[in-house]
Amino acid sequence: MTILGIETSCDETAASVVRDGREVLSSVVFSQIPLHRPYGGVVPEIASRSHLEKIQEVIDEAVARAFPDAPAPWVGIDAIAVTYGPGLASSLIVGLNAAKGLAVQLNKPLVCINHIEAHLHSVFLDKPLTADVYPMLGLVVSGGHTAWIECSAPGAYRILGQTLDDAAGEAFDKAAKLLGLSYPGGPAIDRAAQQATGKNKFVFPSGRVQADNPNLFGMQAELCVSFSGLKTALLRTIQKLPVLTDELIADLAAAYQEAVVSALVTRTETALLGQRYKALVVGGGVSLNRLLRGRLQALADVRGCPLFLAEPKYCGDNAAMIAGLAEQQISLRKQDALALDVVPSLRVGEYKISYD
Ligand code: KG4
Ligand code: ZN
Repeated sequence: MTILGIETSCDETAASVVRDGREVLSSVVFSQIPLHRPYGGVVPEIASRSHLEKIQEVIDEAVARAFPDAPAPWVGIDAIAVTYGPGLASSLIVGLNAAKGLAVQLNKPLVCINHIEAHLHSVFLDKPLTADVYPMLGLVVSGGHTAWIECSAPGAYRILGQTLDDAAGEAFDKAAKLLGLSYPGGPAIDRAAQQATGKNKFVFPSGRVQADNPNLFGMQAELCVSFSGLKTALLRTIQKLPVLTDELIADLAAAYQEAVVSALVTRTETALLGQRYKALVVGGGVSLNRLLRGRLQALADVRGCPLFLAEPKYCGDNAAMIAGLAEQQISLRKQDALALDVVPSLRVGEYKISYD
């Protein structure tokens, strides 16, 4: 099947055409980062307005690029896939309405996709089919999410653990702001940490969660993480310093990055313990982090569990992961396109096509 995917859950307007779940014929991503940079974070009103302005152009470009020589490129589309949650309601709605309109106009099936589950599919894009990856352990680390997910079969997801407050990307973005670095903070901290001299020793907390934390809701404390204390620890450390020199910023960035990365890697190590996962799959914008990629590779090597990381262009939000996962899910679900609604707080493994 050739599927057109649409993604507008946060601050990227994206459309993509994917054949047979893996072969990316086109992937167009319009990033709103420059629009949100002055505010140091995503502003929902600005995001939804920009999605509205760009969505048609992005979709048209994705279809045209997928079939450059075809006189009628739309004929090549077999189904429409769209992110319906989780994400910002006012942003999700723009993509969903565009997708509904297309599905009705073209008389093609509409598949609704969970954004977090799609991040796990991003590692398989543009790659040959791998023999057997199930059961697999997934880690999604982005600006909005940090979760360890077991996927025992196509479409069968279960959350093992997650952050109880800030996501890993959010923790980087907030720290960068405190350090006076640019937005988004993850890449800025990654770069600053490379300049660290190590002369100034800083140590930040590991984000441990106590077993009696009331927000665990049945999850194991050792598989959950809390990053909000880390940001406060950084603030207190900065407040004690007379001046923030470039050398101090680099050493602070390195120590902070170490704390976030080791929190992520130790939880992953715990999740792998005693399990026979056939693959460790890691997606989301934070999976671009060089220290994290290296540490996860080392862990996978020790455990003899193959590591799948997404190509850098598919780590952040994109629509190829939406169209790709849709190929797998279209046969699992029967949907009525017009009954679909956005579900801003959609959970992994949950399938819910309307509020009621
Ligand atoms: O997946 P993504 O593009 O959007 C969301 O779904 O949130 O992730 C964006 C997040 C931002 O918080 C950004 O700071 C972080 O990914 N990020 C990084 C790196 N590159 C992007 N974090 C750490 N190191 C990086 N190299
Ligand atoms: Zn994302």
